[in-house]
Amino acid sequence: MDKLRIQGGRPLVGEIKVSGAKNAALPIMAACLLSEKPIHLSNVPTLADIHTMRKLMIGMGADIAVDADHMHINCSNINQFVAPYELVKTMRASILVLGPLVTKYHEAVVSLPGGCAIGARPVNLHVEGLQAMGAEINIEGGYLHAKAPNGLHGAQFLFDTVSVTGTENLMMAAVLAKGQTVLRNAAYEPEVQDLAHFLNKLGAKISGIGSDTLVIDGVEALHGGEYAIVPDRIEAGTYLVAGAATQGEITLTNIQPEILENILLKLHEVGVDIREEKNAVHLNARNKNLKAVNIRTAPYPGFPTDMQAQFMALNTVAEGTGIITETIFENRFMHVLELQRLGANIQIEGHTAICIGVPQLQGAQVMATDLRASASLVIAGLAAQGETLIERVYHIDRGYERIEEKLRAVGAIIERI
Ligand code: UD1
Repeated sequence: MDKLRIQGGRPLVGEIKVSGAKNAALPIMAACLLSEKPIHLSNVPTLADIHTMRKLMIGMGADIAVDADHMHINCSNINQFVAPYELVKTMRASILVLGPLVTKYHEAVVSLPGGCAIGARPVNLHVEGLQAMGAEINIEGGYLHAKAPNGLHGAQFLFDTVSVTGTENLMMAAVLAKGQTVLRNAAYEPEVQDLAHFLNKLGAKISGIGSDTLVIDGVEALHGGEYAIVPDRIEAGTYLVAGAATQGEITLTNIQPEILENILLKLHEVGVDIREEKNAVHLNARNKNLKAVNIRTAPYPGFPTDMQAQFMALNTVAEGTGIITETIFENRFMHVLELQRLGANIQIEGHTAICIGVPQLQGAQVMATDLRASASLVIAGLAAQGETLIERVYHIDRGYERIEEKLRAVGAIIERI
């Protein structure tokens, strides 16, 4: 199993090009199941999760060719409607094929994703929403069996809890349903908005994009087209935090600063200089006194849970006390024990982690437990004195494209062994 070896304690300095967003590319790929015409996507990141979605869709009969960051998808020959356990267990986002298959092909068999390291992560809202639109759904042998012999119809649906993939699944289903669907208390993360813009480009009628109420008028069919995936705000935020934690100077390109919003606000609070350009962000943390910050994760436009672990790593080397409250997932502090191995001073009380900055972390052997936890360990390892060895880096390959290459380009000493 691959490991990452880092020699820390050096400021990161230089330029990093941000990749396309994993969490936008995955639903957009799944949405291609809704159209029988060719679709060309650009700015698609090369990641393990994208490969898994590709494999899943090829198994259903899709034709998907990849060259560099372009993906050419043709779903005119879909003949299997099954998402098998072997793939779903490696990537929960496989559930995103459920809505498209049921609305377009009137049937779907999708393995239940089950729990994952960061929490229970149920899919009841996906199921209830599709049932409201006329799907019959049974659970047998660990699989969701969904049928809609006469297709889906529009419905009014209120999300009890804001769900990103839940909103995406129901939005995709509603696009080809008969009549109008209204989704209330819907998620509107930039990646959800990107999916909606993509669908409208193919002829869908979605309004309310960028708000918590989506109104979707069903159409007969979608056409083909081209679309560029939005840049990855979590990847971008991770590299900015790494720049701050190492008191370096980083320029990110291929990123619109406005999608980083509260990540940049928090970095201002940390005490680093941020300069925004149209498609770039500059961070200067040289000789700055970093201050620990309080964070409370919340659905968009709140602070993203996917950046919580990285800011925790930053707090461990900042001055003062930062209080981090996780409100989205019940078990998303697994990086704490590993950060403590590097000398971090963190106490957990329920859903809150109290981080008291220390003058210096020391390198150690640690274990990655999930995708964003891995990113926090890389940041801490880059800031720590001496060698850090991170095990189970396959987690990080799910969401960060060529991470060691990008970090080496800004002066990090990091290698995969
Ligand atoms: C997505 C993101 C993930 C991010 C998360 C929260 C993708 C592929 N993944 O995951 O990176 O961390 O949003 O921003 O986009 N819930 C229910 N019932 C449901 C669905 C969700 O109770 O049917 C709960 C979950 O347990 C969780 C909360 O809702 O507590 C939010 O989860 P959700 O937004 O659905 O996360 P994902 O879409 O799985």
